[in-house]
Amino acid sequence: MTSYKNLGLVNSRELFQKAMAGKYAIPAFNFNNMEQMQAIVQACVETKSPVILQVSSGARKYANQTLLRYMAQGAVEYAKELGVNVPIVLHLDHGDTFELCKSCIEYGFSSVMIDGSHLSYNDNVALTAKVVEYAHQYDVTVEGELGVLAGIEDDVVAEHHTYTEPSQVEDFMKKTGVDSLAISIGTSHGANKFKPEQCTRNADGILIPPPLRFDILKEIEQRIPGFPIVLHGSSSVPQDQVAIINKYGGAIKDAVGIPEEQLRQAAASAVCKINIDSDGRLAMTAAVREMFATKPAEFDPRKYLGPARDSLKALYKHKIENVLGSANRI
Ligand code: G3H
Ligand code: 13P
Ligand code: ZN
Repeated sequence: MTSYKNLGLVNSRELFQKAMAGKYAIPAFNFNNMEQMQAIVQACVETKSPVILQVSSGARKYANQTLLRYMAQGAVEYAKELGVNVPIVLHLDHGDTFELCKSCIEYGFSSVMIDGSHLSYNDNVALTAKVVEYAHQYDVTVEGELGVLAGIEDDVVAEHHTYTEPSQVEDFMKKTGVDSLAISIGTSHGANKFKPEQCTRNADGILIPPPLRFDILKEIEQRIPGFPIVLHGSSSVPQDQVAIINKYGGAIKDAVGIPEEQLRQAAASAVCKINIDSDGRLAMTAAVREMFATKPAEFDPRKYLGPARDSLKALYKHKIENVLGSANRI
């Protein structure tokens, strides 16, 4: 058993309390490799933002849990070396079993998500409560989920949203003891969050998605005031990055995300954690494609992963400073 406290990591409790009081959201960025880690740490150091490093079960399989744990420990040390003590949470994203959550806690994660959103309400309550009981013994914080996002969550494909039912949140919170709750109000995973027929088009032909259900969020806030809410599927799918990808041989069609203005509005509410992964994938892919197309003689991975890392860092700084509001909150 390795306690995250010995790795210099923190759980999410205090970060969420501050985010709630300050009306901003903590960025939750997914990672599975070194360049992403460098981009995250550099962006957070330069903006003085706390951060949640997220590992999905797919990322854990891809990169190895032990290696990722040491990378998170390395991130703490790297930030210090750059001169800023960045509060860093190491979080399991979309944990689907008690055993996976337990294993991550034993390996040094400071926070876990148990995603029982695809189960019946009672089974979700039972599984989430079991994870909370175990995690809290080690002062590890737990995120639960109520409601199902449309899109792809690992191997689970949900065709339609099932919005969170506000009447269930208080009971769920009390019965499970979770520290935060992911809700479904119209966000969705991936780069194609909505089908074109669900959207309208502006004068330039750009797809405009249906607005988030702020009415549901408001009702949830009224029922559990001061309780930290999490938004998954919150990439905005920058059209300039999609255009670069497609210009240099990519084939990303009808990609549409959540407008940043709506995320800004969410961050000023009880939403304390905003998950962003797809935007980073697009930024890296655009930079790599551009390098391959414009500098075909290069074959040193640093020559294309370096620009990808720089583009990712710029994206993270933009999110922190202009969307989530977490800059200068250390
Ligand atoms: O919510 C899903 C995250 O974007 C992680 O995606 O399971 O492909 O690593 P992944
Ligand atoms: P995006 O696919 O919108 O980046 O969402 C990521 C996410 O929710 C990770 O859990
Ligand atoms: Zn998610």
